[in-house]
Amino acid sequence: MFDILDINLTNFRAFAGTHKFTFPTEPGLYNLTGRNEVNPRLEANGVGKSTLLEAIHWCLYGHTSRGLKAGDVISRGKKSCIVSVHVAVGQFEGVITRSQSPNALTINDTIVEQTEINKLLRLSPEQFSLSVMLPQFGSSFLDRGPTDKLALFSQIMELDFWLEKSKAADVLAKELAEAKEVEERKLASLMGRISSVDEDCKGLEAQQATFFNDQRITIQGLDKKIKQLRTEHKSCIQDLEFAKAGRKAAENRSVGLTKVIQDHYGEIDAVIQERQRLATKAAVLEASLQTLNASMKKLTGLGAVCPTCLQTVNANHLKAEKARLKSQIETSTLAYEAYEKPINKLAEQRATIAKANSVNHEGLATVTRNKVDFETKEAVLKNKIEHNILEQEQLEKQIGQERKRENPYTKMLADKRTALTDLKTERAECKAQIASLNEDHAAVSYWVGGFKRVRLFLIEETLRQLEIEVNNSLTSLGLVDWRIEFDIERENKTGGVTKGFVVFIYAPEDKEPMRYEAWSGGETQRLRLAGNLGLANLIMERAGLTSMIEFYDEPSKGINPMGLLDLAETLYQRAIDTGKRIFLVDHHTIDFGDFSGVICVIKDEKGSRLEYST
Ligand SMILES: Nc1ncnc2c1ncn2[C@@H]1O[C@H](COP(=O)(O)OP(=O)(O)OP(=O)(O)O)[C@@H](O)[C@H]1O
Ligand SMILES: [Mg+2]
Repeated sequence: MFDILDINLTNFRAFAGTHKFTFPTEPGLYNLTGRNEVNPRLEANGVGKSTLLEAIHWCLYGHTSRGLKAGDVISRGKKSCIVSVHVAVGQFEGVITRSQSPNALTINDTIVEQTEINKLLRLSPEQFSLSVMLPQFGSSFLDRGPTDKLALFSQIMELDFWLEKSKAADVLAKELAEAKEVEERKLASLMGRISSVDEDCKGLEAQQATFFNDQRITIQGLDKKIKQLRTEHKSCIQDLEFAKAGRKAAENRSVGLTKVIQDHYGEIDAVIQERQRLATKAAVLEASLQTLNASMKKLTGLGAVCPTCLQTVNANHLKAEKARLKSQIETSTLAYEAYEKPINKLAEQRATIAKANSVNHEGLATVTRNKVDFETKEAVLKNKIEHNILEQEQLEKQIGQERKRENPYTKMLADKRTALTDLKTERAECKAQIASLNEDHAAVSYWVGGFKRVRLFLIEETLRQLEIEVNNSLTSLGLVDWRIEFDIERENKTGGVTKGFVVFIYAPEDKEPMRYEAWSGGETQRLRLAGNLGLANLIMERAGLTSMIEFYDEPSKGINPMGLLDLAETLYQRAIDTGKRIFLVDHHTIDFGDFSGVICVIKDEKGSRLEYST
């Protein structure tokens, strides 16, 4: 429900001082007229009829229907003005108060912003002027040009909401297309990077393989050397054993020979001693021989003294002695000569042994040389074996180091592969993003036209409703069997939109429709009113409100007296049918018998005031 219950105004334009008016509660048609006592020739003109309505408009919206605000609305000679309007909108009932100098806006004495009032009233000023209070100077809906009509229609039906939605969808679709382009460029760059990193990976794989191969070859080479060294080691060990055996054999031989030589020396010593013994014996014999020979010599002369018995020897004795001596000499000579042979034999024996020993000495020298040779060989081999072992150890160490030597390409390759995986993940995300953007773009693009179609659908539906509303009013306004049709922008064959709000009017006698602009003043005024009434119904319905009060300020211009009665009758019927109070503002005296009451604005020297009569 939307209702205005009473108004309180102080110093508002013609209404100087404070005036309160409670609107009648009975449904019906009320006449708001006046009496100009200041200038009677003006009759009901200039008394403040419109001002009363404008006071409501100003209070609710902050300006009059003709755009007056601020100081323009204060009564001349006064410093401030204040208007309170008691309204009921939906579940709300309360008093809205606006004052000028000081400026204030309240709902039930609570200061509020204009937006709160608009929200509360559910009607914009335009909607209010087309549905509740049709102003004297307002251009009616049908009088506007096709584009203007469409704009107003869209605005009051809030159909622009769908255009805005379509525009927002268009903007979003463009943003999505741009985002898609960005992602596609990103994808192209990712593909390039992936193929380059892929190539890098292949190169690194080859380098890694070459490195491993080189490493394997190096290890194999070192292994081969170790094997050679092992073979050499084995042969050295064998040679060493052989040398040891040789040395030992030489040593044994040396010991043997030394013993033989020593034995020979012993033999020689024994031979020497034997010879010495024999020689001593021979010397004794020789000395004895010499003595015998000397004795013999002594026996040779007479008188000689026997060397043996030291007696003077006679010739017999001498002879005997000589014979004995001779025998002794012969025996001794024989004995002596018997020694000569063995002595010489011993000398020969010694020479033979010495010769043999000399051979043995040579043999010992050879054996000793052999032994030294073997010892040298042994030492060389031992040294060789030692070196061989060291070399093997060295090579094994090298193998260990080589095995441990890290392949630098492995880490590089791993890093590249990680980068490649990351890039592929990014590519997958990018593709998913593009797919998602494509889907969104398709959906949003659909709604660029979709919202327009929704709007057209709503327009179509609303137009049909408006046609019904308007056509219902035509008969009661005296245009019996007249019919009005509206048409509005449509999607044409090329996909564009033909804009405009066109009104076709079918008179009973004409088969073809005629445009609104083609009718006479009186006809037009009736059509105009029918249009206004229909639109007022539509607006209130869309706002979810049932209007309980309406004001029509001078709707009768261009209408003949008969038409004025039709108008009054129409509004009366409307008031009764819908349970409203309708206030018909007119400066004419309307001879209509069914007014439920008359509000007379009387203007005198003090200003305007209100009088109500039934
Ligand atoms: N600020 C003001 N102070 C005092 N009077 C004002 C002020 N502003 C306008 N008026 C006068 O108030 C009078 C009433 O004007 P209003 O438009 O309400 O007349 P009306 O009764 O609707 O007349 P009409 O039938 O000609 O439309 C006018 O004479 C106008 O000059
Ligand atoms: Mg007026």
